[in-house]
Formats: sequence, C-alpha cells, structure tokens
Amino acid sequence: MRAIGEADLQSRLARLSLDQKVRLLTGADFWALYPEPGAGLRRIVTSDGPAGVRGETWDERDTSANIPSPTALAATWDCDRVAAIGRLLAAEARRKGVDVLLAPTVNLHRTPYGGRHFECFSEDPLLTARIGVAYVRGLQSQGVGATVKHFICNDSETERMSVDVRIDDRTLRELYLAPFEAIVREAGAWAVMASYNRVNGPTMTESPLLRSILHDEWGYDGLVMSDWTATRSTEAAARAALDLAMPGPAERFGPWGDALLEAVRAGQVDEALLDDKVLRILRMAARVGGLDDAVPVSPAPVDIPRELRATAAASFVLARNERSLLPLDRSGPDGSGLGRVALIGPNAEIARTLGGGSATVYPPYTVSPLDGLRAAGLDVALAPGTLGHLRPAAARAPWLLRPGGSTSGSVVRFFSPSGEVIGSEQRDGAVFRWMSEFAAIGAPEQIDRLEVSCLIRATEAGTYQLGVTGIGRFRLLADEGVLFDETLTMRKGADVGETLMAPPVRLAPLDLAAGQSVAVRLEHDVHTSPMAGFGTFFQLLLEVPHGTDDEELQAAVALAAGSDIAVVVVGTTAEVESEGFDRTSLALPGRQDKLVRTVVAANPRTVVVVNSGAPVLLPWAGDVGAVLLTWFGGQEFGNALADVLLGEAEPGGRLPTTWPASEDGLLSGQPAGGVLSYTEGLFIGYRAFDRDGREPLFPFGYGRGYTTWSYDSITVDCDEANPAGAPGVGGQGVGGQGVGGQGVGGQSVAVCVEVRNTGSRPGREVVQVYASRPDSAVERPAKWLAGFTAVDADPGETVNVGILLPERAFQHWADGGWTLEAGTFGLAAGSSSASLPLTASVALK
Ligand code: BGC
Repeated sequence: MRAIGEADLQSRLARLSLDQKVRLLTGADFWALYPEPGAGLRRIVTSDGPAGVRGETWDERDTSANIPSPTALAATWDCDRVAAIGRLLAAEARRKGVDVLLAPTVNLHRTPYGGRHFECFSEDPLLTARIGVAYVRGLQSQGVGATVKHFICNDSETERMSVDVRIDDRTLRELYLAPFEAIVREAGAWAVMASYNRVNGPTMTESPLLRSILHDEWGYDGLVMSDWTATRSTEAAARAALDLAMPGPAERFGPWGDALLEAVRAGQVDEALLDDKVLRILRMAARVGGLDDAVPVSPAPVDIPRELRATAAASFVLARNERSLLPLDRSGPDGSGLGRVALIGPNAEIARTLGGGSATVYPPYTVSPLDGLRAAGLDVALAPGTLGHLRPAAARAPWLLRPGGSTSGSVVRFFSPSGEVIGSEQRDGAVFRWMSEFAAIGAPEQIDRLEVSCLIRATEAGTYQLGVTGIGRFRLLADEGVLFDETLTMRKGADVGETLMAPPVRLAPLDLAAGQSVAVRLEHDVHTSPMAGFGTFFQLLLEVPHGTDDEELQAAVALAAGSDIAVVVVGTTAEVESEGFDRTSLALPGRQDKLVRTVVAANPRTVVVVNSGAPVLLPWAGDVGAVLLTWFGGQEFGNALADVLLGEAEPGGRLPTTWPASEDGLLSGQPAGGVLSYTEGLFIGYRAFDRDGREPLFPFGYGRGYTTWSYDSITVDCDEANPAGAPGVGGQGVGGQGVGGQGVGGQSVAVCVEVRNTGSRPGREVVQVYASRPDSAVERPAKWLAGFTAVDADPGETVNVGILLPERAFQHWADGGWTLEAGTFGLAAGSSSASLPLTASVALK
C-alpha cells in the first residue's frame, strides 16, 4: 500500500467545501462514516468491540469469533498472547468489512460492581496499560484501527450518560489516564472514544481535557469520536477536540450537521477547527487503507479455534487446589480410569462465553463445559442443580423449528402499515435485534409490524414456559389461541444498555405431551419499540420442563454422591454482567452457594469452576477441594476447561483484579445527586485493601499453577537484557512487561529475579515486582505494581529473568507535572501482591 503523507492529506482537505467537511463529521449511519469521493475517501466502517468483531449486522446470520472476556486477556499477564489476539481481531475485522474496532475498553476496575467490569482489563493502571498496548499493537499492525475507550472515568454504569465524576488531578493522572497515555504514546492508537459522563463539570465530548491532554501533552494525531449519542451540543463540542459525532446521520441523531454549518457560517465556530477534525478523519482513513483504491493490509491467517482455546486456558486462575485434586488423572486413582464425572451447575450446559451490552457478538458455535468434557472422552452425567436465577434462554433446537417442522429456526415477516408483506427472513434462532438493518428490508418507517412464526415441539411431556423479553407491544399465539397481548415497558430512567440487555420478561405456561408440536406466532408492533424508526429487538423465550428447586438440588446431590468426581460450574450470565447497569450484589445469583455446599458435602472430590467475567463472592471457597476461575471464556471455553482440568494445559492465569471475601469496605459506583466523587483517590483495588488492612479472598496477582516455585534472589541494577550474567543459572529473555512506556530511559531500574521450578511438572510463572516508598513525603499506596514478566521452566530448572521498571513507576503527579521524589524506594518480587518473598531497594535521584 502506498504511504500517504501529510501533504497529500492536506491537499485532499483543500478540495472539500464547507458542506462536505461538515457532512464528514457525523456518521453516515449507525456504524459507518460517509464516503467522500472529492477526497478519495471510501466508506469507513466501525464496529464493536472488545470481545470480538461484530460487523454491521448483529445476529446469528453474521457470526464473529468470540474471544475470552477482556478480564481473561489481562489474567494471562502475557503481552505476546494478547498481541496475537489483536492480530486475530484484525483478521476478523477484515473478513467482516470493518476498518476500525471500537475497542479496547481500558477503564479501570474501580469497583467490582461495575457492569462493564468484564469488558475492562484490570484494577491496576500498569497491567491495564501493558495489556492495552499489546492489544492495540497487534490489531493495528494488521491495518485495522483501535478505538481506546472510554475517555475518561467511565468506570461504572449507573447514570453514565449524565454523572459528573469529581476527581483530583493526581488520581486522574496516576490511575485513570495512565493506560490511555501508554497506549497513545507507545502503540500510537488511531482513535479514542470520548465517554458519556462528565468529569469535573463538562461532559467529556466537550471537555477541555481532549485538547489539553490528548493533543497538547501527548501529541496525539488520531481521531476522537463520541460514544454513541454522547455529542450533545453544536458549538461547545465542535470547539472541543471532538472530531466525529457517532452515530449518524445528523438528521436523526444531531447535533452537528446543518446546525454546525450554520455555526461556522455565523462565525461561532472557526472553520480551522473543522479542518483539523477532517484531517484526522482522513489520517485514520489513510491508516486503514480507506483512501482512493488503497488495498488494505491483508492480515495474516489465524487458526482461530486453536488460538482461542489456548488463550482461554492461559487465562484460567487456579485459586485453590487442595491435596492436588487437579489436574485430574485420566487413569484414575487406581489406574482403572477416572470414572464418572458429575457435571453440575446452571452454567454447565449452556456456555456463558461473554458479558452483555455492545460487546456482545454471535459466535459461530460455543463449546460448553458439557461439550468440552464429553469431547475429551470423559464419562459425564449432567444435573443443573439450580436454574432459578436465569432468565429462560431464547427458544432453540431441538424445540424450535421453522413452520413445516423440517428445519430448526424461525421465520420473520415484515408488514407495511397497509398490511402488505414487505420482507421476510429465515432465521436460525429466536434472538432478534435489528439496529440499522431495517434499511435492507425497506424504508424503516414502512415497517409497521412483524411476525415471528415457528413450531415448538416438546421433547418430553410437561409444562413449557413460552414468552418474550423485549419492549413494546407483543402478541403471542399458540395454535391460534392468544397466550398474551401486552405492552412491555422499561423502568423509568433505564439506560440504553439495560434496555437492550435486561428488558422485561413475559411468560405463559403451555402444557404439552411428548412429541407434540404447536404453531407459535409472535406479533410485534414495531412502532412501540424504543428504537422505532430504525430497528427493534426482542427474544422469543422457551423454558423447558424441570423439577422444583428442591428436586433439582436433590438430583444433583444424588449424582455427585454416586460419581467419582464432581465438577460444579457456577457463575453469572450476560444478563447479570452487562453494559448499562451496575451489579447491586456480588453474590452468585440464586441458589448457587447452596448448591456448591450441598454437593461438596456429598462428594469431597469436588472442583468448582467459576464462570463469571468479574469477581463474585465465594463464601464456601475454604471448604472446596479446587476452585478454578475461568472468566467468560469465549467460544472455546469448554475445550479449554477440559484441557486444564486434565492437565493438558497449564492454568496460566493470575488475577488482574482483587477478589474480595465480602462486600465490606468496597467502593460502589453509585452517584449521589448526579455526582460520583472519587474521594478514595489512589486507593482502589489492592491499594485499598492494603491501606485498610483487609484480607481479600484472593489477592491481586494471585494464581497457582500445577507446579511450585521458589523465589531465590533479586538483584537490582543488573543487566536485565542478559540476566544470565547475574548470579544464578540459565537466563530467559529480555526485559519484562513493565518495560517500555513513559519514563523508560531516565531513571529506569533493572531488576533480575531468580526463580526455580520446585515441582514435578513444567510450568509458567508470572514474576511480579512491586515498588514502595515507606518514608514518602506524599501519600502513597503501601505498594504498587512496577513491572512483571513470565517465565517458563522445567522441573528443577532455575531461571533468572530481567524486568525493566520504567521511571514512571517511581514518579508521582504534583503541581501539574511528573516528579520523582529523590530517595530510596523499596522493591519486592514474588508471585502475587500478597506473596513477595524477595526484597531490595533502589536509591533514585
Ligand atoms: C458503548 C460503546 C460502544 C457504542 C457503540 C455505547 O453505548 O458505551 O462502548 O462502542 O455504544 O455500540
């Protein structure tokens, strides 16, 4: 591809009229920018997001590789692996005609209640920065743009559209801006997304921080786009360094378009400001191959299943493993085989592979724990044990059939106001979401009503619950009998994310004999949808017969008692962890705690797998043989689970965020009077636990592997690129993943750490180095992560690794700049924030 220089971009800009420039500054539709032949600019397509590339259609007809949740990526503490995932996403983006990915989300885990916790990497700014830099580098190396979001302080969901986050400069710099700074400076991100919320007054799409920090301080030459509908003013937003208002068109979503044209003509907004914005759009286009006939970079082919399976396994955190219950030995305790595995829990049969909201994608397939363990050849028997907390799933095979009954799926027909059929779709499932896709069917305002038709065929006799989740008027009929005709409404003040992910549910019972089919029709008045005019969304739900709560529990316990081993998969779902709302409790929903306790009492050889994107409370953890935290594991979840349970892969993860023992002392994301004050300052996550002397359940950085390690020595000011020269044997690689970044050079500190694999299996260890400053004149956390790296070693092998701690790790923000408090800093190395056996110090000037 021909490199397009700045002079070329300027000359393209010079060819555009004011009208043409203004048009470019608002999206053309929900996901794309306008093409502009006058500048040789083609249509540029954006798409969510952090867990896979959705593309312009949001349903099962256009599937997307579903990667593990961003919390899982961070749990690998492995920048090379995350960069590979970035390249995989780029290949997906190109396959789906996407130029700019709306990811990564690098807001911090300020509170575990945050609805989008699963979508962000970590509570620690350094870990978030390193993982974010790797992600963006991987993605952009293949010619697909990253959009680092949400700038800034969108760390929880409650009132996210309006809340005013009050934060002091030092906290803003040292915590929340740090990942953005690293990604902008080191990875050269091509786009940043301005968030919905306010920070210290102005809304972020009008904030002076866009210019003063991004442009002036960091020299950012990329594009700032608004979060969807976050641009709320014509002039103030245009004067700020916001370049692109999304989505479009302006006629529907405003507030630029003609109003901006007028403002420029009236002299209220300087045209030079618009020129800079257009230039940034053209620069982005040049980078993604969107100018003239540029041939985009063709990303290298990726073996997606293999990459996702290995990444999921590398993210699983083995939190407890008493008497080496794991890995399971296929040959069994007496060599006669592992025997029967009781697979229990609400998350065992349906894979929970991602969280909710705009990060949702439709994977081509998912491997549930049941699928994965069966594919591994284990003798598995299933009992859910509890279902109570789950919204019934959308109707699916084998119960859901298209009219006629020969194929699974459903048929949708669209009607005009005069009752004419103006389009139809053959669908594979019963989850429906049209955003701008109505345009492909006809003029959106022409679609007045739609009907979903299918057969529901009973596999066993009993009471089925048939229904809908959505907003607007729905009429459900079975064999022409009306089950209900109702208008479902959202609670007042609900966020768009909540509206999409957790709309009301209406169910009706249907008694069916085994093998009986009923013709089902769901009618929906499209103009009653909150997205009337361009789309709508809903699901046809089906709950199949099951026992009472107590019957389900008893069945699971009986199965566990009669099996050789029990694997209980507990967790949350995309309806529990989602964009649009925060969690109000960290407890596992429903009767899952009771289920675990009862199963453990019935079979002491019980492994609990926790399938959630974010921390949940595990009050029984101390009584269970093994606990494996698996996040939302992406489409290969079940295969990776089998690999780790059987010891074919190492549980490589270390916690990117603290798992609390209780809800005591946790920060909430709840504003008061429209204001959310970050009064805790620097003290989030492990920094807060340290300050308060509270014990978490599992500390930041923690995770066991299948082998053991000893930490033997630490050397400061070593030759970190050649650690073998330092005392010890062997040597592994250059630098650590604290390397790079702001302040490298200057007074960066090289540390070499010698570790030995003291177990009987090869393994991987994440060596972490924390800094401290006990006698500081400024308030500081007791310790903070300064660098890390991973080592691989065989049994008995000693490895000496070098980690370069950047100068920034020792600096603090004071009086408008970075400063280094001269004196002696403590250093401590170990396997987690709570296990740091090696200590040293370094004097800095
Ligand atoms: C989310 C963004 C997302 C956008 C487009 C917004 O509601 O906050 O993260 O990229 O929608 O789907």
